[in-house]
Amino acid sequence: MLAEHQTTAFDLLAPASLANPYPLYKQMRETDPVYYSEANGFWVLTRYSDVEDALRDDRLSADRSSLFASQLGGLDLGIIQNFLKLTGNFMIEKDPPEHTRMRKIANQGFTARALESWRSIIQDTTDRLLDRVQDRHQMDIVADLSVPLPALIIADIFGVPEKDRGNLIEWAVDIGTFWGAPATDNIGAVARKADRSAVLFTELMQEIIAERQHNLGTDMISLLISAYTENGMNLEQIPSLCILILNAGHLTTTDLIPNGVNALLSHPEQLQKLKDNPALLNSAIEEMIRFDTPAPFLFRIAKETLTVGGKKIPAGSVVALGLGAANHDPAKFQSPEIFDITRSPNEHIGFGQGVHFCLGAVLARMELSICFSTLFRRMPNLHFDRDLSAVIKHTSLVFKGFETLAVKF
Ligand code: HEM
Repeated sequence: MLAEHQTTAFDLLAPASLANPYPLYKQMRETDPVYYSEANGFWVLTRYSDVEDALRDDRLSADRSSLFASQLGGLDLGIIQNFLKLTGNFMIEKDPPEHTRMRKIANQGFTARALESWRSIIQDTTDRLLDRVQDRHQMDIVADLSVPLPALIIADIFGVPEKDRGNLIEWAVDIGTFWGAPATDNIGAVARKADRSAVLFTELMQEIIAERQHNLGTDMISLLISAYTENGMNLEQIPSLCILILNAGHLTTTDLIPNGVNALLSHPEQLQKLKDNPALLNSAIEEMIRFDTPAPFLFRIAKETLTVGGKKIPAGSVVALGLGAANHDPAKFQSPEIFDITRSPNEHIGFGQGVHFCLGAVLARMELSICFSTLFRRMPNLHFDRDLSAVIKHTSLVFKGFETLAVKF
């Protein structure tokens, strides 16, 4: 299919674009802001106003199951039955009114009181990870901090016994890897691993739910048991919500931490401003999310034909909503390429918008604020390790982060 007025082929997946997509986003926004990518078979929106409208447009469905299915090739679905049972009912892929019902219950796992009670978990987990590297005077922000931190926090918030947390996280990664990017050369092996992990994850969560039913506490599983019971819902669906929360909360925060450290260390005057005035931390975190959004694209499917920016997007089309591009749109943000920790207003859409607005945004902000304040308090002279070059993630359109980011202190 050829889009009307299409002129240029933009290569979103070129290694240089994945490493630094902002020049490409600018070019796309300026020349073809509602772009059909022949190579990828989807539309790409790069203007803030279009992306914001699309996030609120109920003609665009969040149900991407057809997209997932199309990436499976000839895979025998029999080998992923357990995986499908666990992941087939994610609210992130549902539209209203079903999404509305699911979200109302999930919200009850994130009450303000519960969030406050988890503050010490976040602080202790951050301190424990930094204790391990403090005397080394060097670390990889990714392997030593940003990969383990969010997953360990969520496992603790769930009230998973310490001895089981490592396994739980490993299974979640297997499931998340297949869910996020099923199309690989060794799809059979990845699928089988994800299916086995889905069984083990479900069994462990069921054990915890059974135990917790007789012993409700302030952990998230207890809150969800109460919410499901009050709403007459089957508790068997809780493991599915838990794996969604674990993966949605883990993958994004894992990328945001190194992106934020990189932005601060690359802008020493902004880092100094933050050190001189720690009250700017929350504003700095919003700017980190805007400046280098860890989830630069969200996908939707057009339920009917729609017109965006004068172009007709046919029913059934896949539409990529460019959150990263929108967050750098000069029509919305003054000097968007400048990293300014005092930026105000800062109406970034790094947490999405509309009915699927990030369920964990308050928790994420709390995690990030504790993580960054602890990091710069304990390692005040943190700087890039010039002997080891940083490695940027270069394989995915939907995750923007680092493979490694070496620092010294
Ligand atoms: C910097 C960290 C984070 C970023 C940038 C982020 C970003 C996002 C975005 C863009 C969406 C919208 C998805 C869509 O519309 O399709 C979303 C949804 C979601 N996020 Fe986050 N997130 C973060 C942290 C977290 C955390 C810590 C949790 C939970 C512990 C979490 C749980 C969720 C869930 C469950 C949804 C689905 C909500 C729904 O479908 O109604 N996120 N997030």
